[in-house]
Amino acid sequence: MNQRKSAVILGAQWGDEGKGKIVDVLSEKFSVVARYAGGHNAGHTVIIKGKKFVLQLIPCGVLRPECKGVIGNGVVLDPMAFLSEVKKLKDAGLTVDGQLFISNRAQVILPYHRMIELAAENAPGRTKIGTTSRGIGPAYEDKMHRSGLRVVDLLNSALLRTHIENACHEKNTIAHALFGTEPLDPKTMYEEYSRAAEQIAPFVTDTAVMLNHAIDNGEKVMFEGAQGALLDIDHGTYPFVTSSSSTAGGAVTGTGVGPTRIGTVIGVTKAYVTRVGEGPFPTEIHDSTSDLLRARGQEYGAVTGRPRRCGWLDLPLLRYSNMINGTEWLVVTKMDVMDECAEIPVCTGYKINGKVTDVIPADMPGYNAIEPIYTKLKGWNSSTEGITEFDKLPQLAQDYLKFIEQESGAKIGMVSTGPDRDQTMTLPAFEEALQA
Ligand code: GDP
Ligand code: IMO
Ligand code: MG
Repeated sequence: MNQRKSAVILGAQWGDEGKGKIVDVLSEKFSVVARYAGGHNAGHTVIIKGKKFVLQLIPCGVLRPECKGVIGNGVVLDPMAFLSEVKKLKDAGLTVDGQLFISNRAQVILPYHRMIELAAENAPGRTKIGTTSRGIGPAYEDKMHRSGLRVVDLLNSALLRTHIENACHEKNTIAHALFGTEPLDPKTMYEEYSRAAEQIAPFVTDTAVMLNHAIDNGEKVMFEGAQGALLDIDHGTYPFVTSSSSTAGGAVTGTGVGPTRIGTVIGVTKAYVTRVGEGPFPTEIHDSTSDLLRARGQEYGAVTGRPRRCGWLDLPLLRYSNMINGTEWLVVTKMDVMDECAEIPVCTGYKINGKVTDVIPADMPGYNAIEPIYTKLKGWNSSTEGITEFDKLPQLAQDYLKFIEQESGAKIGMVSTGPDRDQTMTLPAFEEALQA
């Protein structure tokens, strides 16, 4: 790596790969951690010596007092969710004042976004996505429609009042006409959100300027991805995706730091695959092995508590994800969850309508026609929990990782063998690259 490299860390699958844990481990080597996409639909778990934190909007870097946190312009910010997260951190003894910054250009989620989403998700004839019901999609719709409210305007009392009055009139009319929804009261909304704005004001700044200055000064910035590559609005399994650019390109547009200033991309992948919500999942397991992985891996949504669907590692998906992100390094998490599998099928290719291919189709009939081609690897059948050196892993676990590296086209830089910060190994070449 070149000197003082900044890095994007992102999910290589459908989210919940363990990004939070890895961002926390690596943030020791970075001065700033910036979220660039999504909102409080994310749930990033960090466990430090048994103490658990789940961060939704706030970058995981703030758990280290010397690390700054930035909520970039690409994020959709729910002011109430933000304030309650700040409070939770304060209650846990962490102060974020002077350490945490919000982009003045980030978009604001308001109650009518949730109202529209809930009504639309349950409307007859609509494709149900199984969203997190946080108002994420409708807030991004308003952004692209150029009718959204930005954080800078949330702080302008007169603008806020007019915006809420106009938006409520429009959204209430639509929601009532289409879904029979009860209207929201703009007066109460204005009062609540103008109070929230006062509390948010001290955090707000031009974070593009801040991040670029930090890089000018030789500081390293980490871009913390939310969701995962296959949930990306453009590259994911549309329409079963989120509404933002969760892939590496999103780090550029979502923070205002140009691509030439970002040195590397690190993809986080589970040793298997999970997905929450609806949508295609070629390697999904439909027998009791799924329950075993769910139980061992505690595969329940960090935000919604929904059980995650479980499946075998999908290498065409990982290769595709590595390609669209330009992933240089891979982090493989949850190795310990596979400790009791006697045999591990890994999908090495797809057969679609009789043709073998590596390319993920773009359409629903295409997704549905995928027949995964499996190679069966032997399970290691012994505990890897908490192992922190590659050579100490059982030989078959080492072979599994080498197979992933060889087949995915990215180098393995780290392996995680448990949820705690300490249950992690960093491989020497990656360690060296990070020192640069
Ligand atoms: P994120 O959204 O990518 O940050 O991931 P989540 O926090 O939603 O889900 C990952 C879950 O796996 C969390 O409960 C983590 O504590 C846990 N986890 C992360 N790495 C490991 C690991 O190596 N082993 C085990 N057993 N759990 C892990
Ligand atoms: P982290 O950052 C897993 C999924 C939802 C749903 C779809 C759209 O913790 O990995 P949305 O509310 O975004 O409109 O829902 O995307 N989804 C996630 N799945 N991890 C996430 O975030 C997710 N964020 C959204 O379950 O299928
Ligand atoms: Mg998560």
